[in-house]
Amino acid sequence: MQTIRDIASLRAAIGTFTAAGERVALVPTMGALHDGHMALVEAARRHADRVVVSIFVNPMQFGAGEDLARYPRREQADSRMLADAGVDILWLPSPEAMYPPGFASVISVSGVSERFDGAARPGHFDGVATVVTKLFGQVRPHVALFGEKDFQQLAVIRRLVTDLDLAIEIVSVPTQRDDDGLALSSRNIYLNPAERAAAVALPRALGVATRSIESGITVEEALATAREALANAGFSVDYVALVDAETLGDPLPGRPRRLLAAARIGQTRLIDNVAVAPDQQG
Ligand code: PAF
Repeated sequence: MQTIRDIASLRAAIGTFTAAGERVALVPTMGALHDGHMALVEAARRHADRVVVSIFVNPMQFGAGEDLARYPRREQADSRMLADAGVDILWLPSPEAMYPPGFASVISVSGVSERFDGAARPGHFDGVATVVTKLFGQVRPHVALFGEKDFQQLAVIRRLVTDLDLAIEIVSVPTQRDDDGLALSSRNIYLNPAERAAAVALPRALGVATRSIESGITVEEALATAREALANAGFSVDYVALVDAETLGDPLPGRPRRLLAAARIGQTRLIDNVAVAPDQQG
């Protein structure tokens, strides 16, 4: 695996792949890699000849008072995991290379980015959309892979790629979970043992609500029960909502739906989501 920190070397290395007619995949990450990221890498290997993984803790997507300073950074361990997984290039831009003096552009995706995490974390999706657009411009991948765990992020990136006519295939990879169902996240390390034990209430509440909705209980009742279960487990609920899986607007008859949730336990904000079958009744 080549570890590359400057854009000229990155361009040269990727140029040798594309000159040989090889298909290039990009897996953008912020490091502190876990099995969820490695599932993205495995999927990338199925979709392309060469796999580039970027690690960049993007200051632009953290709000004031968020966890930028304490976000886990484990370059050596991450690098070993990626080399073992057969990754071709580890792209490690510095904050100065990514946002040099004079940098003045922001990519903002309206609509799909505005509710839920967009409302709870103002500016977050502008930061994500801007850095992902830059990573696309730097690596110029044929395909890029994102986890379904960050479902709103995935919807924002799909919208961005469509709107900007980027010739990049976006592949989503299902959420990887611990044995008890908690979605893997680099932020799970913030949970103390009691919080970690209680956190399982999040996937459980989503599972119960999904089954209830699919069996005909009203959405309002199912969501209220989920909120109550989370509060009883010690969560402070940010949102639990049933949405159209593409637009993240109100669900429409016959279309895929998604149940989204964000809730805080202790100092840690967790998000999760699950698919809900289309409502054929309207
Ligand atoms: O999902 C993440 O880890 C980040 O939001 C991403 C896509 C790498 C952009 O910084």
